[in-house]
Amino acid sequence: MTKETITFPKDFLWGAASAAYQVEGAYDRDGKGPSIWDVFAKIPGKTKNGTNGDIAVDHYDRYLEDVDLMQKLGMKAYRFSVAWSRILPAGEGAVNEAGIAFYARLIKALKDRGIEPILTLYHWDLPQALQDKYGGWESRQTIDAFIQYCRVLFTRFGKDVRYWVTFNEQNVFTGLGYRWASHPPNVTDIKRMYAANHVVNLANAAAINLFHELVPTGQIGPSFGYGEVYPATSDPADVLAALNANEFNNAWWLDIYCRGHYPVRIFRLLTQMGIAPTVTDADTALLTSAQPDFLGINYYHGGTVARPTVAETDTTAEKTFAAIDPYMMAADHDQDSPEHYLFTSVENPHLQKTEFGWEIDPVGFRVALRSVYEKYQLPIIVTENGLGAYDQLTPTGEIHDPYRITYLRDHLVQLYGALQDGVPVLGYCAWSFTDLLSWLNGYAKRYGFIYVNRDDTSEKTLTRIPKDSFYWYQNVIRSNGATLTEQ
Ligand code: BG6
Repeated sequence: MTKETITFPKDFLWGAASAAYQVEGAYDRDGKGPSIWDVFAKIPGKTKNGTNGDIAVDHYDRYLEDVDLMQKLGMKAYRFSVAWSRILPAGEGAVNEAGIAFYARLIKALKDRGIEPILTLYHWDLPQALQDKYGGWESRQTIDAFIQYCRVLFTRFGKDVRYWVTFNEQNVFTGLGYRWASHPPNVTDIKRMYAANHVVNLANAAAINLFHELVPTGQIGPSFGYGEVYPATSDPADVLAALNANEFNNAWWLDIYCRGHYPVRIFRLLTQMGIAPTVTDADTALLTSAQPDFLGINYYHGGTVARPTVAETDTTAEKTFAAIDPYMMAADHDQDSPEHYLFTSVENPHLQKTEFGWEIDPVGFRVALRSVYEKYQLPIIVTENGLGAYDQLTPTGEIHDPYRITYLRDHLVQLYGALQDGVPVLGYCAWSFTDLLSWLNGYAKRYGFIYVNRDDTSEKTLTRIPKDSFYWYQNVIRSNGATLTEQ
């Protein structure tokens, strides 16, 4: 039997991605205000080897060289984020024209080369001034500031940029920032996490509504960090646990984005635990009024779960939290965690892992695309997917990364499968274009098609060197996917 030739849709957005704090550097130049990452990364012990984005990979000064390399790669789309505090140094109030000018130059350079800009409004770098003044996302005043920022960008760039992303991985930055204190604002309080997350939901909805008013020709949606959760076995208790985990990890955000309400099972549990967000009627009206045009999906891996460690016999609303679980007094250090009552995470014996311990699951990518589309019926842009690895520069100045080629090829073949299944996937942005700063893993965890000659301790030369995967992706794009058939 001959293999079918892979052909992607003719206008498929072959792309790659980045985020401002991870690439730009120039953290205090040309009027930029500090962001919460500028401050947090300097707290001793918070980042790998004390790395930060002060210089990053100096994309701010080298953006033209980078955009030329994008053109050489053949990219049809480039996803980047805008640093809010470049535009509004205090998060609100006066506009910094030098900040606007930088992104205007970048967008023009992309469009001149036929590359579609995909602009992310918020990739985690809240202006520090808003954290100091209002308490950041714990205050609804931050929504007003965000809307002012959005209005500036929609007005200035609405005619040049067609695709817009509101929030990058809201699930990740709220969890790491407010529950685990490994991102700013360095908090460990799950109730505050759910409250802040709710405020972000409102900001997302308000931004989408404003966009539809000001940029009727464009498209906007959030980028969500999605991972399908599998049951460990066919034991119905494990299947129920996987349903719980998918609602807890995925639907908690996607249902809000697309339907305007939280999944009932999870909301009930959080209410019983006293950690649910307060949702007013006006909030529900706003949340249900805003519809994204597409969903951005960032896919790295999912998870596998078994039944929770506690029995769930009765979870009626009138029961107190203590009454949900007769074993609550058991010596379980996680008994304050909602997960404790929903599922237990287990290893998946079928999956290999990356050097950094992330499962590699290309079929799960297809499952994810199928599930998300069936549930929410919106077109999808894959806004991130890629492999972090310890790449080595050879003495002759090359980077051989066959593992990345295998990873990306396997995921693209599954993406093609999802397209064949009928899922409207508009584009694929590999993470990342150049090597960049990993928030918590410094400069050693590399994702790019282009090696950047720097490490955790020195900026070295910051020279850009295309890796083997660059030439491989160039062929994939040039052939519109056909070369994937041969491999
Ligand atoms: C996503 C983020 O969570 O994953 C990116 O949107 C991030 O900003 C990427 O860099 C990879 O994560 P990490 O921790 O490996 O750098």
